[in-house]
Amino acid sequence: MPVEIAPSILAADLTRLAEQVKEAEAAGAERIHVDIMDGRFVPNLTFGPIMVEAVRRSTKVIIEAHLMIVEPERYIPDFAKAGADIIEVQQETCPHLHQTIQQIHGLHKKACVVLNPATPLATIEEVLGDVDEVLIMTVNPGFGGQQFLETTLPKIARLRQMLDARGLGCDLEVDGGIGPATAPAVVKAGANVLVAGAAVFKAKQGVAAAIQAIRAAAQV
Ligand code: DX5
Ligand code: ZN
Repeated sequence: MPVEIAPSILAADLTRLAEQVKEAEAAGAERIHVDIMDGRFVPNLTFGPIMVEAVRRSTKVIIEAHLMIVEPERYIPDFAKAGADIIEVQQETCPHLHQTIQQIHGLHKKACVVLNPATPLATIEEVLGDVDEVLIMTVNPGFGGQQFLETTLPKIARLRQMLDARGLGCDLEVDGGIGPATAPAVVKAGANVLVAGAAVFKAKQGVAAAIQAIRAAAQV
């Protein structure tokens, strides 16, 4: 499976949002990752649908909206309308996960379910056949620039085995602390989509060189 890179604009210079997104696109980033935080599910506040709309006007690449918010079903239509292509919901916020996935598909968007580091894979076993993607958090969500949690590696590997055993071609994404140093291990474990915030937008060598460095490291 070819590896895709999804730069997270949480780490971008927001005074130059369109420019930063276009730099990532020109450097071959397959997706742009937008972190939506509500100060309740996670202890931080970030963006709403108008940010997705602004990114949409800046690029043609796939936009994923990572909803770190309680009751995501209340806002999913707004993020769909704003132009997100993939809507990512946290398992921990969805008591009716199957229904939430149906809601996303009903809006003709791809559905991704996200698991915190401590949330077991067993909690999504029954919906694996219904989702387009699973995202394994490799840090506790809420902030960019945190250190990658090594303990998530066996979980990534077990998920890849589960998907293979069922013949499911769904994407396996990782998010948190991903950069040239951690990319080889997550790809070896079975991840094929890498979110990277600080490693792309805070890199001294610039966005394009940073994306190239992650892509080179992901070739394992
Ligand atoms: C963390 C967010 C991440 C964050 C990743 O809660 O979900 O997407 O932007 O940032 P880095 O790559 O800097 O760890
Ligand atoms: Zn994220």
